[in-house]
Amino acid sequence: MTDIPVRVRPEIAALPAYKQGKQAGATAYKLSSNENPFDPLPGVVAAVRDAVAFNRYPDALAARLRARLAERFGVTDDRIHIAAGSVSILYQLAQAVASVGDEIVLPWRSFEAYPGIVTVTGATPVMVPLTDAAAVDLPALAAAVTDRTRAVFVCTPNNPTGAIVTQADFDAFVAAVPSDVLIVLDEAYVEFVTDAAAVKGERVIAAGHDNVVILRTFSKAYGLAGLRIGYAVGHPRILDAARSAGIPLSVTAQAEAAALASLDAEDDLRERVAVVARRRDLLVDRLREIGWDVPTAQGNFVWLPAGDRSLEVAAAFEAADLVVRPFACDGVRVSVGEEESIDRVVEVAASVRP
Ligand SMILES: Cc1ncc(COP(=O)(O)O)c(C=O)c1O
Repeated sequence: MTDIPVRVRPEIAALPAYKQGKQAGATAYKLSSNENPFDPLPGVVAAVRDAVAFNRYPDALAARLRARLAERFGVTDDRIHIAAGSVSILYQLAQAVASVGDEIVLPWRSFEAYPGIVTVTGATPVMVPLTDAAAVDLPALAAAVTDRTRAVFVCTPNNPTGAIVTQADFDAFVAAVPSDVLIVLDEAYVEFVTDAAAVKGERVIAAGHDNVVILRTFSKAYGLAGLRIGYAVGHPRILDAARSAGIPLSVTAQAEAAALASLDAEDDLRERVAVVARRRDLLVDRLREIGWDVPTAQGNFVWLPAGDRSLEVAAAFEAADLVVRPFACDGVRVSVGEEESIDRVVEVAASVRP
């Protein structure tokens, strides 16, 4: 990398620059980042407006939110860790457990941040292909674990394909993985899941597996992506290690206040989530009707397996003012957004059907 003026670790220099879901123009729908199309939940704006002590550092532990989440999960406060988005916790956990010579096993294709998070630690990402149904292949993940493995990431519903991991399969997976290997259950989209067979973090916590940490976020169903706040539930010593690897004071008082207010609006949340889930199921049905082999979708997004045509398909969406997310050679992810966007999505999908 001759254009970098200082000596940067070669594996870092080789990482692709972070690519955010494209912003949308005034007339376009932004369906590229799995965001929530709704306004903040009732009470959130007022809570943020009231949190004006900008001259003070925030509470490093976000203790009020921590206590509230601990109560909700039926655990002690030290089993909750809050950070500036769940992606921060992924970085922290990876830093805490892995370094040069180690491996972290992850499904692929999955959340696009995973491989880079591993590379930054100096460890090697071991990327395990999805099943033919575009689901995380748990037996294959377990089989990829070696003496060098320090963690396994499991994403459910899997971003970007949408398929879930079942509770039964997850339980078998935990039993198959050595108990000194960290398992991260990334449930960023759990609130949208309607399949009763899906794994549920609450059940995993109740089972008392010390090596499993679950990740949740306020970015998706709760609609607080812009405020950056997410959390982990797990063993206190693992969460201490994550905190030690993180940047202190990253969670703002405003984000904490917004999260607390959101938790007060659970009925509204449930209603909105149900709307998105129904919209998603309808969209899947319509896409299948016109010939797209859309896998099970349990998040707030759908997956068009466009293969080599992904960039061309995404360009067709963009030409219709629909900003979507292509993953070259694999497919195109379309977030479930505003109701008015749905007909347009189906129309474009029909024009580029397989
Ligand atoms: C699977 C998954 N995990 C984690 C995240 C990170 O979310 P945040 O950092 O906003 O909490 C995302 C965001 O897209 C995601 O898709």
